[in-house]
Amino acid sequence: MTVIDPRPIIAAKRDGQSLSADEMKAFVDGYTGGSFADAPAAAFLMACLLNGLDDAETLALTRAMVESGDTVHLASTRPLVDKHSTGGVADGVTLIFAPLAAALGLSVAKLSGRGLGHTGGTLDKLESIPGLRTDLSVEELARQVETVGCAVAAQSDSLVPADRALYALRDATATVPSIPLIAASVMSKKLAVATDLILLDVKAGSGAFMKSSAQAVELAQTCLSLAVGWGRSALAAVTDMSQPLGDAIGNAIDIAETVEVLGGRRGGRLRDLAVTFAARGLESLNGASHDEAVARAEAALDDGSALERFALMIQAQGGDPRVTQDPWAVLPRAPIVRPLVSDRAGFLVAVAAEDLGLAAVALGAGRIRKGDPIDPAVGIWLRPKIGDPIEAGMLIGEVHARSDAAALEAEASIWRTLTVGPEPVEPPPLVYTWLGGQP
Ligand code: URA
Repeated sequence: MTVIDPRPIIAAKRDGQSLSADEMKAFVDGYTGGSFADAPAAAFLMACLLNGLDDAETLALTRAMVESGDTVHLASTRPLVDKHSTGGVADGVTLIFAPLAAALGLSVAKLSGRGLGHTGGTLDKLESIPGLRTDLSVEELARQVETVGCAVAAQSDSLVPADRALYALRDATATVPSIPLIAASVMSKKLAVATDLILLDVKAGSGAFMKSSAQAVELAQTCLSLAVGWGRSALAAVTDMSQPLGDAIGNAIDIAETVEVLGGRRGGRLRDLAVTFAARGLESLNGASHDEAVARAEAALDDGSALERFALMIQAQGGDPRVTQDPWAVLPRAPIVRPLVSDRAGFLVAVAAEDLGLAAVALGAGRIRKGDPIDPAVGIWLRPKIGDPIEAGMLIGEVHARSDAAALEAEASIWRTLTVGPEPVEPPPLVYTWLGGQP
């Protein structure tokens, strides 16, 4: 192991200087290789968050992260597409998108993340299925993409290990909401695996790291220019995260919701966004018209073929595929399920979605310290969306908790996040804009 002294690099960033590509690489390799501990790395991340990174530094960080592991070229017989979200609350789009795109004749090779800050993580959700592994080797990833059509895997010793290390540390040190750090994290995972198209879901709103759509557009543009500079095609949608996208904010309960959407039994914004991305993939890679692509994606949810792909993916990754038929026969359940009954009437006007995500973290659905285990069974179901009418006495959701005290505390937090007003309001759009990048 090459031992480096990280302090001059931290000091340069602290003092607002630009780092060279060699300094960035030395830092990333040093931390990933264990040459120095978490404390200096956390100081470095905070300096990056506070002082920013210019385009050349962002590219150098991304490159160093990609080069911390192998780069993968899959020999897929079908067009390969990847999709990534910058993080939100009740954002289970990937879990639906991957099998849906596979059912439509595309292949999806996806490196995902864990819960980050107040947002949920695809890997944590998937791992709530007993036995399911996300630590796939490159060979396993390649085989599964060819046989099943989709695989969702974690960063590993051979696949972007730098992101695995830095991601967990950012989660524990409040250093997530930085455009260059998010862009490098997301894009290092996308650039390490060669695909024909990268689809980015860049979230904007109270439940996103980017609170305004202007910030989200900047993040989207940063990610797209990294893709273009790498010679890769990418499209980014800036989408609404001013409220939870789906109804489930946890882990096992998100899998139950995924199964309902994939089986065509649940409509709403989560389904609509998954269809939007799958259709975009089909349009770009197979030349389908927009209407034809949307119709095919809707049909694959309604006829069970997307759910079938999900069962195959779960089985290939060691999980119990019966979860797709009878989720609660397989998934862990919380001992306390407390109904959320409305004590007010009116219309849902606004949701403090980040605080809602934090309420789920406080129940145990996310991490507070690096490496903490999560509790897959706990979480929050919340049904109303902005604009919906709410009546007093109406059942609007459930809290799944380990104890009565935790459930009561979560219930109080949830009510603090909801604004109910007397007048109806327009629901926010699902997609604000699409941006494109061609090499
Ligand atoms: N998703 C990632 O992979 N990284 C981030 O930093 C945020 C969302």
